[in-house]
Formats: sequence, C-alpha cells, structure tokens
Amino acid sequence: MRTRRTARTTVAALVTVLLAGSLAACGNSDTGGDSGGGDDKIVLGFSQVGAESGWRTANTTSIKEAAAEAGIELKFDDAQQKQENQIKAIRNFIQQKVDVIAFSPVVESGWDTVLKEAKDAGIPVILTDRAVDSADKSLYKTFLGSDFVKEGRLSGEWLVENTRSATGPVNIVELQGTTGSAPANDRKKGFAEAIAASPNLKIIASQSGDFTRAGGKQVMEQFLKANPDVDVLFAHNDDMGLGALEAITAAGKTPGKDILIITIDAVKDGMQALADGKFNFIAECSPLLGPQLMELTKKVHAGEEVPVRIETEETTFTQEQARKALPDRKY
Ligand code: AHR
Repeated sequence: MRTRRTARTTVAALVTVLLAGSLAACGNSDTGGDSGGGDDKIVLGFSQVGAESGWRTANTTSIKEAAAEAGIELKFDDAQQKQENQIKAIRNFIQQKVDVIAFSPVVESGWDTVLKEAKDAGIPVILTDRAVDSADKSLYKTFLGSDFVKEGRLSGEWLVENTRSATGPVNIVELQGTTGSAPANDRKKGFAEAIAASPNLKIIASQSGDFTRAGGKQVMEQFLKANPDVDVLFAHNDDMGLGALEAITAAGKTPGKDILIITIDAVKDGMQALADGKFNFIAECSPLLGPQLMELTKKVHAGEEVPVRIETEETTFTQEQARKALPDRKY
C-alpha cells in the first residue's frame, strides 16, 4: 500500500514538472522571443530569396542546420524571389519582436524604409549573401558574403588567359542572374573589367536567366538562334549553365569544346559538368554561410561590435581541379 502511494506521488510530481516545462517552451515559441516562460533562446527571423538554384538549396540547409546546432530558434521565410514578399516577412518579424533579423536581399535597391522600421524597433539586422545599396550603413550591423565582383573578374581573367592564341574575334554570350540583384550587377562588372583590355573578346548578347536552369536553357536557345557563332558562354551561376547545356547540345554543338563555358558557384552538379569536360572553368561562391551567421547573430544580440563586412573565402576550379575535388564536395 505504502509503496503504491509513493509511486503515485512520484508520477504526479513528474507530470507537474513536465507540464511546467512544456508550458514554458510554448510561451517562448508563441511570443517568438525570450520574453515568455524563461527559455532564453535567441529568436532569428530569416528571409531567404527563394529556391531558385542548387546554391540556394545548399544555403538554406546550411542555415537551418547551423541554427539547430547553435540552439537558435529560426523563423524561416521563403520569399519566392519577390522583394515584396521579403518586405512583408521583415515586417512580420518586427511584429513578432524577434531578437535579430537576417536576410539575403533579392535585389539591391528599395530597402531603406523597412530597414528603418527594424532599426526603430531596436532589432539588429544582418545582411547575408547579398548586399543592399542603402547609403545609410547604420541600417544593418554587418554584411556576410562573397565578393561578387571578384568572382566575375576571376572568370574574365581565366578567359583572357585561355584565348591568348585566338586570332579573330571571340564571341561571348552572357547569362545574367536576377535583374537588379547584387551578384548579377557585380559579376557582370567584374567580368567586363577583366576582358576590357582584350579587344577581340566581345560580349555579343547579355540577358537575364534569373539564376534558374529553365531560364538558362530558354535564353541560351534565343542566343543561339540569333547568333550561330557563339564561342563562349559566361553564366552567372551553375544552374543557368546547366540549363544552357541542353540548348547547346540541341543546337548540335559540343559544350566545353565548340563553346567554352564559364560559370560561378561550384555546386555538385556544376562540378560534375566541369569534371566531365562540359564546363571549362568555375569561380566558387560558397553557400555554407550558416555557422558564421549564427555566430554573428549571437554577437549582435549580445550587443558586441562586429566587422561591417565579412568576406567569404573562395577559390576557382579548372576541369582537372574539379575531378580531384568532386568526391569530397559537400553540396
Ligand atoms: O546570391 C548568390 C547567388 O544566388 C548564387 O550564385 C546563385 O546560384 C543564387 O541563386
């Protein structure tokens, strides 16, 4: 009898403890912050561009995994490549009183109003992957991401180096990323600067394929119809290059031989195409920003100073280097 009562008392006590614990957890996720229930997890609101490319998918995975690892509560929003959706998501995060807001801006311009709203609400903002062109740098704490101009320049320098023996004009077509986005603007600029001193290298057509495979294929088909003598394709990312492969093959040309292909990113599928001899050169753009983003989130939340610009470390790949790197490629 005595033993049974003791067991019942113990179970009742346990239920009380468990209930109290789960109520505390609910309080935190409802308020979206550390204001309710004593669970002091940092809440990060993150607005992602979309799911337009292999790079983007790897970036999203990196951010979700790193948040879980760091014990940060992530409120994730997919903007489906629309600025208005990102602005809406940021306003929602402000309303929910998240601790920190991070986002990868789909385009460079038009952010001042919403960033000012975040600043007025006392919520620090981190830019990740892509920059904004706001003159007021106090609207965000830091920008973590690649040097896109450098990626374009490295691509152009490889082309200059590898077409030195060409006697006639070298006709280049360019598949740009999303119009108005930092990587499209900057990669175009860096590439143009690198080839500027080589008058035989000519960009004969340049159009956006929106960073997608479908866009790359469709625009490349148009390029080839209008200009049968294309010597080089510079695609602002692997996915557009991969889509263009289909158009090139369908036009009866051999990618990597009849048409040299230079891309940016170095995701697995792109690296495979490079190792297979279908691409000729890739400038890397790393999507693995999650761990650094979580570190920065903790620091800005604690009110610590952080550098205003943190540049991602990257490299470049030739076909030979891709063959060696491919087996260990994580994304
Ligand atoms: O902002 C990074 C770029 O966006 C990547 O190069 C591209 O693949 C992505 O969609």
